[in-house]
Amino acid sequence: MEKKKVVVVAGTRPEVIKMSSVYMELQRSDLLEPVFLSTGQHREMLAQAFGAFNLVPDHDLELMKPGQDLTGLTARVLQAVGAYLEETRPDAVLVQGDTTSVLASAMAAFYQNIPVGHVEAGLRTYDMQSPWPEEMNRRLVSPLCRWHFLPTEVSKANLLNEKICEASCHVTGNTVIDSLLWMSNKVNAEEDRSVAVAERLNIPVFFRENFLEQKDKRWILVTAHRRESHGGGFDDICKALRQLAEDHPGVGILYPVHLNPAVREPVMEQLGNHERIALVEPAGYEDFVWLMNRCYFALSDSGGVQEEAPSLGKPVLVMRDTTERPEGVEAGTCELIGTDPKKICTAARVLLEEGAEYERRSQLKNPYGDGKAAKRIRTILEASL
Ligand code: UD1
Ligand code: UDP
Repeated sequence: MEKKKVVVVAGTRPEVIKMSSVYMELQRSDLLEPVFLSTGQHREMLAQAFGAFNLVPDHDLELMKPGQDLTGLTARVLQAVGAYLEETRPDAVLVQGDTTSVLASAMAAFYQNIPVGHVEAGLRTYDMQSPWPEEMNRRLVSPLCRWHFLPTEVSKANLLNEKICEASCHVTGNTVIDSLLWMSNKVNAEEDRSVAVAERLNIPVFFRENFLEQKDKRWILVTAHRRESHGGGFDDICKALRQLAEDHPGVGILYPVHLNPAVREPVMEQLGNHERIALVEPAGYEDFVWLMNRCYFALSDSGGVQEEAPSLGKPVLVMRDTTERPEGVEAGTCELIGTDPKKICTAARVLLEEGAEYERRSQLKNPYGDGKAAKRIRTILEASL
């Protein structure tokens, strides 16, 4: 029997990371044949993420433009994915998460009458402005899909409240844990990669010698990129990081800066000259997992980092006003602190100065899955295609 063709779509770094485990699992199927389609919404960061899993997309639409706006990007993805699906006529399409690539690809598949599966479905803040535009993307994607692969029971309840048919809802866990475990097996946390990582990321010698290479020295891993924080939010984040460095003279800050110019310009300008704040290039996933293992805690607005770092025993302070990942906050592995410098500094001080509280939070259980989400997705697709 001919295998059913499943197009796995990814456009940005987190989609590649969270879909790689799904793609590799579908490759093991006797019934399904996965095809990795890159929209190319991201370019360098996408190539870096594919590289970490030794994968190359089967087809790349190469749609990124520098400083792209949402309307133009949405139109390009809709048109290009639509044309690709019309020509190749797969049996199913899988999208992951909440980016422009996800919404436009799901629409394109819907217009071609090809069934769509949504990986990491059912996340909600119920605030259309936060995260923007991701909350809208998720809300619009759900009614377009035949399968909803949900990370937790909370996400299932969200979809049931929206009158999505229960038979299409499958709680699988989040595929990010599958990918993280796959990568963690490759990356030995004890191995000293300081020199190689420092070289790849352009980490200054001072920071490498005084923090990365000193196991007893503490440093904070930072990532931030959310669109709703562009402008004032980033000014606040930069103020907070500088203040943190001043308040804690023995502590370092390592920040792999996202390639979006709306992030890069203010961050480089406002934090570029502090010895204990290392602003570096985006890290390959392998290096980033090693860094998460080595940091004291993470300060981040990233969805993926909220889900991953607690698996490695690292608390996360979330620099956002809302989160669609309440399970982590409830479990205590993540704390929602917004972008107000005072709140950031207060929350960081607790982790840096209250040893017992740090220990407690670094030992909590991660609620996002058991590393078998991709297997469950494969089983469901095999049974229904
Ligand atoms: C996008 C997603 C966001 C996701 C994030 C993950 C949307 C609307 N936003 O935000 O949900 O959390 O990716 O990182 O879908 N750029 C490069 N090279 C790259 C990547 C980006 O130069 O490899 C620059 C380009 O100038 C590009 C800009 O960043 O135009 C913005 O990229 P875009 O994908 O539109 O937005 P992100 O902020 O990356
Ligand atoms: N990540 C990475 N290198 C970095 C920063 C993050 O590989 O320099 C990984 C991180 O481990 C997580 C994902 O990228 O799996 C998160 O991507 P991002 O923060 O860009 O997007 P979000 O998760 O917020 O949508």
